Amino acid sequence: MHTLKDKVALITGGSSGIGLATARLMAEEGAHVVIVGRDEQKLEAAANEIGHAAIPIRADASSISGINALIAKVKETYGRIDVLFANAGMSDCPPILETDEPFFDEIMDINVKGVFFLFTKAFPLLAANASVIFTSSVAHNKGRPGDPLYSMTKAAVRSLGRTLAMDEDVLAKKVRVNTVSPGTIQTPLTKQDTSEMDEMINNYVAATVPMQRWGQANEVAKAVVFLASDNSSYMTGSDLLVDGGLAQI
Ligand SMILES: NC(=O)c1ccc[n+]([C@@H]2O[C@H](COP(=O)([O-])OP(=O)(O)OC[C@H]3O[C@@H](n4cnc5c(N)ncnc54)[C@H](OP(=O)(O)O)[C@@H]3O)[C@@H](O)[C@H]2O)c1
Repeated sequence: MHTLKDKVALITGGSSGIGLATARLMAEEGAHVVIVGRDEQKLEAAANEIGHAAIPIRADASSISGINALIAKVKETYGRIDVLFANAGMSDCPPILETDEPFFDEIMDINVKGVFFLFTKAFPLLAANASVIFTSSVAHNKGRPGDPLYSMTKAAVRSLGRTLAMDEDVLAKKVRVNTVSPGTIQTPLTKQDTSEMDEMINNYVAATVPMQRWGQANEVAKAVVFLASDNSSYMTGSDLLVDGGLAQI
């Protein structure tokens, strides 16, 4: 049985990594997927790979004007959203003492502000019983030496999901809000610039992840599809860790 038959799913960051794997799986489960990113070529390639169930929309999910334009296009095309996956984000941070205000604003805009306003601007289009999923990270509940800013943004996202789940307008519409928290997942985001750095991070994964391996984007996608579907009908405000045990020890 197709768990997302005829559902309309909006996926930011749907052109790469976790978002693309999720879009692919949601399409296989019968959904119409709207995938969002800034790079036109990446988006087109992703949409072609997924097939006719995917519509690519180029938008900057870190700005209100970008989000407004995106939601207007979805409204025009489908008139509703059944699954909202706010997933676009960035992680690379400069050393703490070299972090300046423009960088601070950049990461806050995509990882936090963009998630919040994607939710508020999409809310009028959310169907009754819609499912909202935010991508947080294991970083929200683990100290990460040298990386406070990323962890802070992902803790904000986790907190947002928790509080929105009990919002009276959200409850009145029977909308569920959950977060997914990936651990170390092999995507373009975690690919390093040099083979030395790749080796360093591979050693880190082998030494710290209980399952001693990287996770794959598809393994996160399966958890997101679960949260998107009625299979998780009694879950809201929760956080689903997909981390090979990393945040459990
Ligand atoms: N990979 C991991 O180990 C891991 C672990 C925990 C959490 N996460 C989180 O998972 C999410 C996805 O990560 P990923 O690993 O799949 O990364 P990825 O492969 O780099 O994909 C990021 C996606 O976000 C899009 N994006 C970035 N900024 C955007 C913007 N301003 N507007 C619209 N789209 C934007 C990118 O497209 P464009 O660049 O074309 O815009 C791309 O499609 C992120 O929130 C990340 O923090 C990842």
